[in-house]
Amino acid sequence: MKIINILFTGRLVKELERLLNSEEMLKGMGVRFVADEEVSSEDLDWADAYVAFHPVAHFQFGNLKWVHSLGAGVDRYMALGDRWPEDVLLTRTITSFGRKIGEYALSYMLKETQLHDRFRDQQGRAEWKMVSPRALDEMKVVVFGTGEIGQELARILGFFGVQVDGVSRSGADKDYFFRVMSLCEVDDSSFTEADFIINTLPLTKETVGLFDERLFGCMNQAVFINVGRGGTVDHGALLNALDSGALKEAVLDVFEEEPLPADSPLWNHPGVTVTPHISAITTPEEAVVCFLETLEAVESGGELRNRVDVGRGY
Ligand code: GLV
Repeated sequence: MKIINILFTGRLVKELERLLNSEEMLKGMGVRFVADEEVSSEDLDWADAYVAFHPVAHFQFGNLKWVHSLGAGVDRYMALGDRWPEDVLLTRTITSFGRKIGEYALSYMLKETQLHDRFRDQQGRAEWKMVSPRALDEMKVVVFGTGEIGQELARILGFFGVQVDGVSRSGADKDYFFRVMSLCEVDDSSFTEADFIINTLPLTKETVGLFDERLFGCMNQAVFINVGRGGTVDHGALLNALDSGALKEAVLDVFEEEPLPADSPLWNHPGVTVTPHISAITTPEEAVVCFLETLEAVESGGELRNRVDVGRGY
């Protein structure tokens, strides 16, 4: 496919402009770097490629042939709904997200197994009381989502001897997972032994509200870590699960509404840790590498491992 005019917009637009300013591959193409609120209908009609984290408010497909998401998640593009034209290619950024999410999850797992809060409390009372930390290789983890990110997470946890089960749409076996269950196979006994449940799932028609009363009801004193999308979780059900003991704690990086509204009960719940969607931030440098690789493949007709299946929604 021949790309002539590329429109960049969104949070990283200034950095992308700086990094791509003298990029050889863009020579001879029309390139515009425009802040979100300044993107006009004329810009959208002019472009045949659109590069951003999400569609601008008054997005229109115009003459677009290719849309490239600077994030891993494409739910905000998918929310354009049935309007997605069949002949518009959608790609997403694939970069070090799995490693970053691995570090994020490990940090909260170690806080738990190494009893950080407990020893801090004891210190406050000048109390010397030996309690043995638990080892990671005694931990059982279930990762929802066995794609690029989930698999890297499983690889990292596996390095520490953690037994990682996966849950995916198909239930197909994947390297680094002890076993993979399909979403339909999940039953009341699937998670009773899990110490940590980590959600990396994208938001799709099938995953919206997936973590509901029933699913949380199958958990038993687990720590729930959400780095996927907030819309996959019924937060009322999550709070009930914390109160009933199905969940011991929840570490949430993603929310249905972001920023998380100031009046959300999640902010103050003692069992909830809130982080502001930072578990896998795309850096400008990573964005550029993935964008240029994708552009190369788009133009040469090469293999696109980051192509989104618009029908599936990820
Ligand atoms: C972050 O959530 C992303 O979609 O990259």
